[in-house]
Formats: sequence, C-alpha cells, structure tokens
Amino acid sequence: MPAELSPIDKAKFVAAKRATEFVETGMKLGLGTGSTAAWMVRCLGERIREEGLKVVGVPTSTRTAELARQMGVPITTLDEAKWLDLTIDGADEFDHNFVLIKGGGAALLQEKIVATASDRMIVIADAAKEVAQLGVFPLPVEVISFGWQTTKTLIEEALVSLDLLNFECLLRMNGAKPLMTDESNYIIDLHLKRVDNPRQLALVLNQIPGVVENGLFIDICDIVVIGHGDGRVTVRDINLGSETDDFVEFKPSKNIFADME
Ligand code: 5RP
Repeated sequence: MPAELSPIDKAKFVAAKRATEFVETGMKLGLGTGSTAAWMVRCLGERIREEGLKVVGVPTSTRTAELARQMGVPITTLDEAKWLDLTIDGADEFDHNFVLIKGGGAALLQEKIVATASDRMIVIADAAKEVAQLGVFPLPVEVISFGWQTTKTLIEEALVSLDLLNFECLLRMNGAKPLMTDESNYIIDLHLKRVDNPRQLALVLNQIPGVVENGLFIDICDIVVIGHGDGRVTVRDINLGSETDDFVEFKPSKNIFADME
C-alpha cells in the first residue's frame, strides 16, 4: 500500500467507496473516467472479489477499460448493454442544481453518452469541486479535427453573441501535438471564468458545425457523493431533496492498492 494518501486522494477514495454501496448484483453500470472514478473501479473490483457481486460495466474511456480489466470488473460495450442502471463518474465542477462541467480527462463524449443512457447518474467528487458559480474550470468542447480552427472561430463568435467577454479558447495539447480523444477528436478548452446560463451555452455550442459535444452535463446527474479528507461523506439526492452525512472508514485493503505499491 502506498505510504500515505493526500487528503484530496482520501476524499476521492471515500466518495468512490460510498458510491459503490449503491451498486447491486445484476446491475449494468457506466464506469466513469478520471482519478476519482478510478477509485470507484478499484472499490467495485474489491466488492466483486470479496462479496461475489455480479455486475457488468461499460467503460467511458480506454483508460477505464484497462483498469476495469486489471481489477476484475467485467466490461461490455454500450451497444451490447443498450441501457444502464447506474453510471458513477467524477466531475470537474458541480453546482447546487447538479449541473456539471466534465471533460478534464478528455472523455466527455463517451461520458455524456453513457450517463444519458443510464437510469441514474452518481457524481463522486472531493469537496473542492463544488462551486457557487460554474466556469472557473475551463469548459471542454470536443470538436472534430477537420477545420478545427474555423470551428474555434465560430465558437468565439458564439461566445461574443452571448455577451461573454474576456474569454480565451485554447486547443488542448499533449506535448507538442493536439491532444486526441478516444474518438480521434480535439478538445478546445473555453476559459470563461463564469457560466451564468449553462443551458443556453450548451445549446448554442452544440449547434456549431464541427462541435461534437460540450462538457456541460445538465439534468443528467441525480446524486452527488462528496468526499472529505477526514473520511466524512455527504450524499445529496436531487430527486429526494435530501442530504445525509456519514463516515466511510478509511481502510484501504491490499487488493485495492495491489498494483500501486
Ligand atoms: C474526465 C472527467 C473527470 O470525471 C473529471 O475530469 C474529474 O476527474 P478527477 O476525478 O481526476 O478529478 O470528466 O473526462
């Protein structure tokens, strides 16, 4: 086991562990992408090994598919599964309406398709991801590589038409080359500083030719599980209008950390 996890990793871990308690045998699951979602896949693998939990997961990226294989979580494709009971995924930001910004890990397209094809979506996050106003985290927009500079100009014009000022749109790079998503597309990060009307922005962006999808997740998330560095976990359910607090014992097993020593 690694010597010591940082408070932020502990927060991610406890949120992920608590969220896996929503998983029941027989479920078809969407498996998110990112460091918090990776803890969830590890915790799921542990429940499969220790309790004989029977589930099948649809990964939202090649990274998550690889980790699921390593952790012994059976996976399939969305085309095979068709519809899912539950998706558990991280987020870069969420607000009080459970509107999310996602795509920091460049997997927003598969993440949105998978979460939308699920009866419920649970977001797992450390407390720092909660914001009063979305937009400090740059909004990722996936665009096809063909003509991406024209698409970027059209995005900028659309932002001006929405009276958004002082923004910057940057092509996401991977070293010296544009970062490629799993679908071989590019990501343009919109540094907006604030998003006042996410619904309008999402609609306008998705009407631009060349834009494949944007990282605003609206009316998709049902439950947010927020982890804290001391093991406290807050569970908020938008449908029930409820909020509960409990503690998840931070007792990472050998299995969960097996490959991390
Ligand atoms: C990937 C995502 C992730 O869920 C988001 O970036 C959060 O990642 P992390 O859990 O590592 O903070 O949207 O595209």
